[in-house]
Amino acid sequence: MWLTNSSLGRKVVMSLTGLFLILFVTFHVLMNTVALISMDAYDAICEFLGANWYALIATVILAAGFVIHIIYAIWLTLQNRKARGNDRYAVTTRPKSVEWASQNMLVLGIVVVAFLIVHFVQFWAKMQLVEVMHMAGANVNEVAVLRAAEGSHHIETAFAQVWTLPVYVIGLVALWFHMTHGFWSSFQSIGVSNNKWIPRFKTLGNWWSTIVIGLFIVQAVVFTCIYA
Ligand code: HEM
Repeated sequence: MWLTNSSLGRKVVMSLTGLFLILFVTFHVLMNTVALISMDAYDAICEFLGANWYALIATVILAAGFVIHIIYAIWLTLQNRKARGNDRYAVTTRPKSVEWASQNMLVLGIVVVAFLIVHFVQFWAKMQLVEVMHMAGANVNEVAVLRAAEGSHHIETAFAQVWTLPVYVIGLVALWFHMTHGFWSSFQSIGVSNNKWIPRFKTLGNWWSTIVIGLFIVQAVVFTCIYA
């Protein structure tokens, strides 16, 4: 199949899953913003997005997006290295036009995944996973089940620990670099940009990433100030 057999097809898959993940983080940061305004409203949203069938379907689609994006990233990197052979070690100076982020997308992605592991342990594992296990009949702590949909409680627990803030800031800065490059590069790979549009997509991507990541950082700082 073209999407798996050709290098261009694989880039299209990377781009589409990447744009889908950018939409997800945008939705996520807007949802978190509600927590800055009213924790009661935030808990109502968490309840709505708990282990209901539509939320579970969304989680499965989201997980598939992440897994495909990561597998293709590794695949494309290995393929590029193989194509360049030993030449990649010969390059000591890079053209100025090649951004730092574009050269480090895999490393930045690995930092984001490391952050996500910490994030899932703090939130998803205590929320949706607990509800799903309870529904499946597993022996789960009663209190944990009762608090599973209470997003405010988990935010408090996570940000009461001072190490959470630096870990989030490191993950978010890596995500900013990853997103700013991924944004315009995706539009280029799917063929909707040209020399005139690339600078426009770069500007849009920089603004989009800065607003999303900036809001996440403000949230993490505010929660730390309140709960730590
Ligand atoms: C201040 C920063 C953040 C806070 C307070 C936060 C909070 C949360 C909470 C409360 C949940 C559980 C929601 C639920 O199960 O109903 C969650 C899930 C999740 N978060 Fe975050 N988050 C933050 C940053 C991020 C970032 C930067 C990413 C992506 C790189 C991310 C990715 C996810 C994912 C993939 C899930 C699982 C979604 C699902 O179950 O469908 N989060 N987050």
